[in-house]
Amino acid sequence: MCGIIGYVGKQNAVPILLEGLARLEYRGYDSSGISVLNGKGNLHVIKKIGKLAELEKALSALHLRSKMGLGHTRWATHGQPSDLNAHPHTDCTGTLAVVHNGIIENFQELREELSEKGHRLVSQTDTEVIAHVLEEILKENSSVEKAFESLVKKLRGTYALGIMFKKDPQTLYAVRNGSPLVIGLGKRECFIASDVAPLLKRTRKVIYLKDHQWAMIRSDRCGVKNFSGQKIKSKVEHVSWRLEEAERGGFEKFMLKEIYEQPEILKNVWLGRMDLKKSDVRFGQEMLSSREARGIERLFIIGCGTAYYAGLCGKYILERYTGIPVEVDLASEFRYRTLKLSPGTAVLAVSQSGETADTLASIRRAKELGCRIISIVNVVGSTLTRESDAVIYTQAGPEISVASTKAYLTQLSAFYLLSVFWGRARGEMSLMEARHLLTELIKIPEKIQWVLDHQDPIKACARKYYSYRNWFYLGRGFNYPTALEGALKNKEVSYSHAEAYAAGEMKHGPIALIDRNFPVIAILSQGGVYEKMISNIKEIEARRGKIIAIANPNDKVVSKFVNDVIEVPETLEELSPLLNVIPLQLLAYYMALYRGCDIDRPRNLAKSVTVE
Ligand code: AGP
Repeated sequence: MCGIIGYVGKQNAVPILLEGLARLEYRGYDSSGISVLNGKGNLHVIKKIGKLAELEKALSALHLRSKMGLGHTRWATHGQPSDLNAHPHTDCTGTLAVVHNGIIENFQELREELSEKGHRLVSQTDTEVIAHVLEEILKENSSVEKAFESLVKKLRGTYALGIMFKKDPQTLYAVRNGSPLVIGLGKRECFIASDVAPLLKRTRKVIYLKDHQWAMIRSDRCGVKNFSGQKIKSKVEHVSWRLEEAERGGFEKFMLKEIYEQPEILKNVWLGRMDLKKSDVRFGQEMLSSREARGIERLFIIGCGTAYYAGLCGKYILERYTGIPVEVDLASEFRYRTLKLSPGTAVLAVSQSGETADTLASIRRAKELGCRIISIVNVVGSTLTRESDAVIYTQAGPEISVASTKAYLTQLSAFYLLSVFWGRARGEMSLMEARHLLTELIKIPEKIQWVLDHQDPIKACARKYYSYRNWFYLGRGFNYPTALEGALKNKEVSYSHAEAYAAGEMKHGPIALIDRNFPVIAILSQGGVYEKMISNIKEIEARRGKIIAIANPNDKVVSKFVNDVIEVPETLEELSPLLNVIPLQLLAYYMALYRGCDIDRPRNLAKSVTVE
């Protein structure tokens, strides 16, 4: 996620903007920039790739003084990290500047329209399109207010915007649609920001803009309107958070914040890709073409840790819908295998960071063997993206907590989209089947929210079981990878020995371990393996194992054999991993909390394992 800061007041904006950007660094970024009006009233934009220090160095030589300005830290979604792609972005005349957090879904079509009208866009970003669309609208309509009403009609996607105009040196503008934006009300000075963290040193009086609202902000007042132009009486709130709480959005830990972000983040993966009307999925030019999709005879999926488990789930998904034979391997193993691969073999690497040493080593090996490399990655511009033939970005925003949650969910989501893209291209997936899957997929965010809103049984289980040291996590089919991922969360953040098994394997040895001190998490959502799972848990129950079931609401059968039930809403069996993993993330989080573990920075672990 990008960070926005804006200032209008009596002081020099430059140091205030830099201080605000420093408070936004925790969000993760790859470049930064500011726009101010210099002494002659001209708009000045300075932006640099890399850390804030690079921006400060560039500014130190300019001695700019301005009573208004915008600042931005960029976490790339469209276009590699670079000076040019950093924000703010301006129009052709250089008389307006825009900073943006979010994703403009229709930026490619707007870009083409603008180029036909002679606009010269210099970056690869979706944000620069906003500046030129606004410029075009203002040619027909000098009223900024009317221009905003037209602008928001043209943009599709999510956006929080900060905008300033050379011709209006007293006024900042803020627009919100799907990405957070807050207005800070100081003494003869006002601010805009992506969250309250950069404001707390200056003011605790804030207005939280709501979706479909825009604001005109001056040093001593601000006016809010909705997208239909009606005036809104906004509530001024007082922020009581300490700074470190503000950085976590009021959550106790980044891991919990990132778990809660998942309903919204999941939608980002679909923006600009899912075409419900055509019951199809389209990827940008970076993706394999339909023709190439038909040419894939065999697919290897590789990854490490959580990314490997996402790949394992991806195997079930792709085999279900595309007819492609899929093999999954740990990246740390794949690289040592003796493989004879046909030209029709593709390798798909999954990685949040795009910097994992074992994953990079494996795709380099695969390239030597003549394979095409596709990757599912979160960090734009990471090494893996630069060494892949095609990339699907998961758009999860920076994942700060070492324990991966939202990255995993968006990796799964990418596989669902890919299965429709390839399944339709290869004639393996009918229009009806694609429509059914996509229609159910878009209901998932509200179902995840349901789980987040019904946590009491999860917290109760965490409280009841957090002292246990050994666990089994059991699943079958689509939810065997879910069991693996749930067990890894427990291991990582609460340091318990949690082992995941394909439930059918228990009778081949592991069941010897079961006794009353060995709780078992069993994934029992409705689907083709439900009956088999029931018979597996009966074997556990017969040996006095303690069973916690992840099941659909009001399942009377399950409740007969288990000690505790954690409910998740029903969905297609194929989509159930997206829901079943949520309580496992929360269970691991709360047990770690009760055990007093360092949840965001677990012992011995790093966020990105760049060593082999
Ligand atoms: C997941 O919670 C862990 N942090 C770890 O397993 C991680 O998934 C693994 O190191 C792979 O990292 P990557 O996705 O950045 O390649």
